[in-house]
Amino acid sequence: MKWFKQTVFYEIYIKSFCDGNGDGFGDLLGLTERLDYLVELGIGGIWLTPFYPSMQVDNGYDVSDYCAVDPLYGTLADFQVFLREAKKRDIRVVIDMVLNHTATNHRWFKEHPDYYIWKEQPNNWTSFFGGSAFSWDVERGQYYYHSFAHEQADLNWANPAVKEEIKQVLRFWLDLGVDGFRFDVINNLTLDLTFPDNPVDENGEVLHKYDKDQLGIDGVLTELAAFCRDLRPDVFLVGEISSDQLPEIARYSHPELLDVTFNFNFGSIETFAPEKLFQELVEMEKVLPAGQMPTLFFGSHDMSRSFSRLANQNLPLAKLLAFVILTARGVPFIYNGEEVGMSDLTFASVSEMADIQGIMAYEQGITAGMSEQQALFDASQKTRDKARGPMIFADGQAFSTANRTWLKQNQESSEKVQQIFAYYQRLLAFRKLAKYAAEPYTLLQYEEECITYQRGKYFFAANFSKHKKAVAPPNGRLVFGQEEQGRLAPLSGAIYLMEEENEDYY
Ligand code: GLC
Repeated sequence: MKWFKQTVFYEIYIKSFCDGNGDGFGDLLGLTERLDYLVELGIGGIWLTPFYPSMQVDNGYDVSDYCAVDPLYGTLADFQVFLREAKKRDIRVVIDMVLNHTATNHRWFKEHPDYYIWKEQPNNWTSFFGGSAFSWDVERGQYYYHSFAHEQADLNWANPAVKEEIKQVLRFWLDLGVDGFRFDVINNLTLDLTFPDNPVDENGEVLHKYDKDQLGIDGVLTELAAFCRDLRPDVFLVGEISSDQLPEIARYSHPELLDVTFNFNFGSIETFAPEKLFQELVEMEKVLPAGQMPTLFFGSHDMSRSFSRLANQNLPLAKLLAFVILTARGVPFIYNGEEVGMSDLTFASVSEMADIQGIMAYEQGITAGMSEQQALFDASQKTRDKARGPMIFADGQAFSTANRTWLKQNQESSEKVQQIFAYYQRLLAFRKLAKYAAEPYTLLQYEEECITYQRGKYFFAANFSKHKKAVAPPNGRLVFGQEEQGRLAPLSGAIYLMEEENEDYY
């Protein structure tokens, strides 16, 4: 069985994770020192956000050199040490690959303008951060296309030379020993090169129709995936598809394309409702091509923290959400800090923000005539800084504050931190022993705020209601979770081992 199918991944936002050299920013040295913490937690894979040289306009997603390490985070030798130490601990490492665009200070932008997309006149396409997606380049006297910030110029994937350059980048990292890639906004690579105006909805918002999921995308992705798999047959490829529509997301999860894609239809929901969660679990089973697995997550560096957004600061609910992603069928991704119940940061002024998405929202609000207060409110909704605050570790060791000039840190109650961490630990340890990760559902149902499923010889129950529930199957023995008077405790999850007659599993 492919290793990723039984791996629990852990996303590390490197800048806020652990500061090894005391300069106020997380780095590779700090991350390596913290590998034992991850062993203690019990995860099996890391997705590391970009650590390449960058102007840091979009926190590293504006890459200036694909084959090096930003001095802010250390050196290539530090990366190799990190990789070696991770492997020693049986932790796989997946790195972020931002192939849709480079920073405008990447040497290609000057040396190979044909690697980028130029136009005499902009059309109505907008950047995902707001404003026009075209910027004027004085030297060339033309507009270049950037689907994100003005400093992130989109690569021209219609030029075969771009593909060849990127293959060498992929080879470089695979040769170093990474186990896979997380492909950033990968469905954006191809465009409708006749540049028709995008449709506009009733609120005047320009929709992203002709600037993603365009003709040729399957060809490009098949070629890149095959290239990686030839070099490394067990490479893991996970794609970020910029969409929250399940059919679009699921389409890219395919034996010849990506191993899995991020299910934003599930993970980035705005408000929590158990029935909706259940329906998404069912839909993913229906819509994904046979044999493909969904991804299960409730957080990332791009969205509000699940402890605030979904659990509403409710500790049992936070644990129950963890229960679902670690027991339902799919590849789980825990976002750093979720395992200690970190909550969203709040902002008293735009000067406390670092994320371009928040800062741009503020500036656009002011330009549109909003009051400072309104613009700050709007920016606070949009800024991804909420989820990017310095990591809080369960052992109480705080991120160094001495030189930290950027995001502030929330105070979190140490009791909460300990409790949630211990829960993750127990469940991850159970998951490893019980080996249900690749089992299909033989049952998946919903009744009165309770989601229940059976996989292999285990029966799982997630009770989202405030009442005790009699959910135990007749021949099930409780092996994880808590019952009260023979019924499953409110807002809690339990696992039962289905005992067959005359058979002793232990
Ligand atoms: C992805 C990243 C996000 C970044 C964007 C542009 O969505 O997760 O952080 O801003 O791509 O690279």
